[in-house]
Amino acid sequence: MMPAPALDNEFAREVRAGLSTAGQKTLPCRYLYDNVGSALFEAIACLPEYGLTRADARILEAHAGEITALLPSPVVVAELGSGSGRKTRWILEALSRRQRTSYYPVEISRSALVMCERELGDIDSVSIVGFEREYLDGLLEVAALRRENQHIMVLFLGSTIGNFNREAGIDFLSALRSTLQPGDSLLLGTDLEKPAAQLIRAYDDELGVTAAFNLNLLARINRELDADFDLNQFAHEARVNREERRVEMHLRSRRNQRARIAAAEAVIDFSAGESIWTESCHKFAAEEIPFLAARAGFRCTQQCIDTQWPFAENLLIAE
Ligand SMILES: C[S@@+](CC[C@H](N)C(=O)[O-])C[C@H]1O[C@@H](n2cnc3c(N)ncnc32)[C@H](O)[C@@H]1O
Repeated sequence: MMPAPALDNEFAREVRAGLSTAGQKTLPCRYLYDNVGSALFEAIACLPEYGLTRADARILEAHAGEITALLPSPVVVAELGSGSGRKTRWILEALSRRQRTSYYPVEISRSALVMCERELGDIDSVSIVGFEREYLDGLLEVAALRRENQHIMVLFLGSTIGNFNREAGIDFLSALRSTLQPGDSLLLGTDLEKPAAQLIRAYDDELGVTAAFNLNLLARINRELDADFDLNQFAHEARVNREERRVEMHLRSRRNQRARIAAAEAVIDFSAGESIWTESCHKFAAEEIPFLAARAGFRCTQQCIDTQWPFAENLLIAE
């Protein structure tokens, strides 16, 4: 067999690799977030079934003062995958009461970055410089700007850590730790385990907003890679994988079909019922977080838990 031609476009390369491997087809979840995907994610955060964002916001509103009081001064704030940054207001307002604060949102979605700058641009004593970058690339740039006496507080909210497989999540936190210095901090949001029925409702809402968010990945491939996916012939599916303690999002082919992706120089066949696995959302037990943190070189100094929607915000200090 001829090897597949080399492609310059990273998106095209990753789409072809994920859809042409034998076995389970996959697509990287970060491609869910173009301008349409980021707008749909904002809508998901408002859905009654999806309590995660509101739980995170309640904790930050109630505890931002005590969390920031535990940090050394002066501190700069880097937020990985900020989205609209709405919840971050509580942290920035608490910090701005004691110091001028530089805030660096790091995002791959340009439209999310624009939303974030608009959302938080009015806070006194806070200056915002956004980085349209991958998480760790952006953090490295922030670390390079650090002045000698400054500490860094990294925010990784909304349980985005749950998108990584468990071991990959520890590797990610270790890589993040290696860009920091002892005494720097990471505020890590983690969604806690809950009943399967509640999780299915959260990731497969009645209105179909999460379905649209998931299907937009194929629509994006059509738009950007000149492909011909028939969106009506794929169904959104949320599956609870109890053993792995995660929700998986899939796009299930409704029939035997073929899609052509011109910019990836690929033709992909689907059989009826076959799925593309697009995202994982791992869930955590509050007690396991200090152990995960320790494996990555952090000490968990504070944990705030929302009881309405079990969710933990964890303050980790780099050792
Ligand atoms: C689950 S959303 C969370 C948004 C926000 N932090 C919240 O808690 O609501 C994940 C965000 O991370 C961004 N993102 C995903 N993968 C990324 C990557 N590899 N590097 C930088 N940003 C990424 C997405 O664009 C999206 O805005």
